Amino acid sequence: MILLTGGAGYIGLHTAAVLVEAGHEVVLFDNFSNSKPAGLKRLEAIIGRAVPCVEGDVRSRQDLDGLFDQYPIGAVVHFAGLKAVGESQAQPLRYYDNNVSGSLALLGAMQRAEVRRIVFSSSATIYGNADSNPIPETAALRPANVYGRSKLMVEDILRDLHAAAPGWSIALLRYFNPVGAHPGGLIGEDPNDIPNNLMPFVTQVAVGRRPELQVFGGDYPTPDGTGVRDYIHVMDLAEGHRAALDWALRDPRELLTANLGTGRGSSVLELVGAFEQASGKAIPHRIVARRAGDVAACWSDPSLARERLGWTATRSLDDMCRDAWNWQRNNPQGFA
Ligand code: NAD
Ligand code: WQD
Repeated sequence: MILLTGGAGYIGLHTAAVLVEAGHEVVLFDNFSNSKPAGLKRLEAIIGRAVPCVEGDVRSRQDLDGLFDQYPIGAVVHFAGLKAVGESQAQPLRYYDNNVSGSLALLGAMQRAEVRRIVFSSSATIYGNADSNPIPETAALRPANVYGRSKLMVEDILRDLHAAAPGWSIALLRYFNPVGAHPGGLIGEDPNDIPNNLMPFVTQVAVGRRPELQVFGGDYPTPDGTGVRDYIHVMDLAEGHRAALDWALRDPRELLTANLGTGRGSSVLELVGAFEQASGKAIPHRIVARRAGDVAACWSDPSLARERLGWTATRSLDDMCRDAWNWQRNNPQGFA
């Protein structure tokens, strides 16, 4: 059985759907601090049966020890954590507590239960302002915010653990910019409050929840002046987790670090254009000042994941826009 911490969240639900369809048994664990139980009902509708979900906090050894005692867990995908960059700068202790202390508690519980296979949700944000694109895994790690530093700290803890206890199989997956939704439109991204990220903001403009998109910066050294990112379809990302899990379940007793991205960059205006095409909706937008902390361009070198995991992203920006719109159009208020 595979434990998905943070399994009720955006990437967790999509990964659960892919893993169950691939024949894995899964158990989800979540404190619903950034997700809703309604998402679990939707997951059930997709896969045609209930999936066990335990409500608990990844910082609680009591919750975790009970979970490992109750279920025959063979490997863990560790999604649980907080992910809003701006909020992390304002609330560093809360971020380090959830992301770092939570990971430490989980690893302690895994050690007690003798479960030594883990796939960890890292982030391209740990590269910070990279010297060049595409970014390989060997690039310097210099995160520019608390959130990114919390992810790097957990990576460091896992590297130290592996050096001390080589029986562990550990995959560090550095996601670029996950967007889109399951093609059935039953699950998707459902941010609380005003979305921080581009795609959910665009879909909320399209559905009439927000009047216009502010494009943060039109004077970057990029082809059209707007920021360039490596958007990756969440279903491709979910399949990347399946590949990493299959790798970990073979017990390689290695630590593998892999970018999950497409290797292609798209600008904000390109994404808006692709979305307008896919949805048939005009997205009113206006170029405003740059957002503090943003880099001009960031895209992955995804070749290592192809070579080591046999995984490559296959879905296009048009697919991402079509599926993001299908989700938002069918669920204007998300899971609410
Ligand atoms: P999400 O917020 O939708 O999912 C995270 C889940 O973890 C939520 O359901 C939340 O309730 C749960 N959670 C948070 N703290 C917890 C705790 N202490 N105990 C138990 N559950 C807790 O976010 P997501 O987009 O699905 O991201 C999943 C993981 O991937 C996160 O670790 C995130 O940092 C990482 N990541 C996300 C992105 C992205 O852009 N979405 C990019 C790179 C990395
Ligand atoms: C994308 C582009 C913005 C909103 C963040 C995290 C990163 C990772 C993914 C977790 C940029 C522009 C955005 C808007 C805009 N998450 N934009 N108007 O900043 O690349 O990455 O999410 O690990 O850690 O930092 O993603 O979607 O916020 O921005 O113009 O209203 O869209 O300036 O160029 P980002 P994003």
